[in-house]
Amino acid sequence: MIPFLFLWIFVTSFADLISVSLICRHGDRGPRTTVPTWDLPTPEQLTPLGMQQQVDVGEFLRKRYVDDLRLFPTEYSSKDIYVRASNYNRTIMSASSQLAGLYPKGAGPNNLYNYPVLTELKHDDFVARSFQICPTGIDIWEKTKVSQKYLDAMSKYDEQLKKASKLLNVDVNYDTLEKYQNAMECRKQYGGLDPAQEESFQELSHALHTQELFYYPNDNKEWLKVTDGVLFYELFYDNPAQDGMVTANLQEKIALNKKKYRLYSMHDSTVFATLRSLNYSIPSHPYYAAVVIFEFHASGEYPNYKNPYVKFYYQPDEQSARNGDLWVPFTPRGCVKSPVDGDGCTLDSIQKEFSGDTFPISQREKYLTEVCGRKDVDRYAPAPRTTTKGGPKMLHLILIAVLGILLAVSVVLIFTRCQKIFKDRKANKEYFPINN
Ligand SMILES: *[C@@H]1O[C@H](CO)[C@@H](O)[C@H](O)[C@H]1NC(C)=O
Ligand SMILES: *[C@@H]1O[C@H](CO)[C@@H](O)[C@H](O)[C@H]1NC(C)=O
Repeated sequence: MIPFLFLWIFVTSFADLISVSLICRHGDRGPRTTVPTWDLPTPEQLTPLGMQQQVDVGEFLRKRYVDDLRLFPTEYSSKDIYVRASNYNRTIMSASSQLAGLYPKGAGPNNLYNYPVLTELKHDDFVARSFQICPTGIDIWEKTKVSQKYLDAMSKYDEQLKKASKLLNVDVNYDTLEKYQNAMECRKQYGGLDPAQEESFQELSHALHTQELFYYPNDNKEWLKVTDGVLFYELFYDNPAQDGMVTANLQEKIALNKKKYRLYSMHDSTVFATLRSLNYSIPSHPYYAAVVIFEFHASGEYPNYKNPYVKFYYQPDEQSARNGDLWVPFTPRGCVKSPVDGDGCTLDSIQKEFSGDTFPISQREKYLTEVCGRKDVDRYAPAPRTTTKGGPKMLHLILIAVLGILLAVSVVLIFTRCQKIFKDRKANKEYFPINN
């Protein structure tokens, strides 16, 4: 009886799942920088291990959302999914690897694994890493870097950085910390670390985490607006704009409300920033193929949903993720528990919490100028409207044709007239009296 009761609770509590959004980090990749003597995978590219990690995540998600919860069918349909990657090889390939796990039959002929993945120029990607492309975001970090609080917190690690520099024979400082910590992480996977290197790696990892808590602040509204103003709007207010934020001719309430699965294949930075903006207490750097999940639940039909609420999940511990034991629910800031499901937050409470910080497409210019601080806003102005109807275009053509004919006739007339004049001149010189 008891197991049945549990089963019943499990099934009914998910009966109203409408859609799921995922912010993912790409899988295992080559390092951003290397140590001369180490032979590591190709810099920055997704490795076969990274692809496998994403396939595994995709299979896990299929089991949950397709097999168990029947959110969308097993056969691929572009109607069901929205897939967006930042403009990097590793995130685009991670997206397609995850989809290969999600749709084992593929999307192409002969079950080919071939999926459309939307991407945006790095310079224009306000969803993935706007704190790196917005002058205001960059400024915030520049100020933080010289603040006493930051300097005091980081000075604890001075000795350890010096030690690492000696050990690796490179310059590990606060600007290169992330790269060398990552090179060591990569070496650990591909070749192994000796005990001294392992100890140094652990120290650098702590130093990096401390630095990242400053880099991704959870108490700075300006930073939250820059970083997650566009993404949170897509997640909690409306749905992704099909061609990204900067495209001019899109409608705000696009049919994406009907997409069941929305994958944002991005970076550790995107995952970190998202979690910090939600005031999740993040214990360590997001591992490869880490996923933040937002489940949107409601009863009733679009657009008249009743009791909408959101459930948030993240798996903080890489090891349990590898055991196939993904995702622990968490409670973000501003959450008012849903009366329908104690693990969920009412959509209303989440919208209230972030209402002043998010930017719909209609506020594109405000976001770009006031929040992001971009000066090149003209680039994003809507393209001039061109009419494509047959009528006016045809009229233009006819007008041009008529003018052309008139021009041709006049040329011929003038030419023949001139010929006549010259003939007359030859025949009768008095016609043009010559003054000798
Ligand atoms: C991405 O992959 C392509 C080949 O598909 C390669 O030519 C290119 O160099 C890679 N880009 C980067 C930035 O690594
Ligand atoms: C974020 O969480 C911490 C505790 O983890 C809390 O002290 C703080 O008030 C929270 N901030 C907001 C804005 O909710």
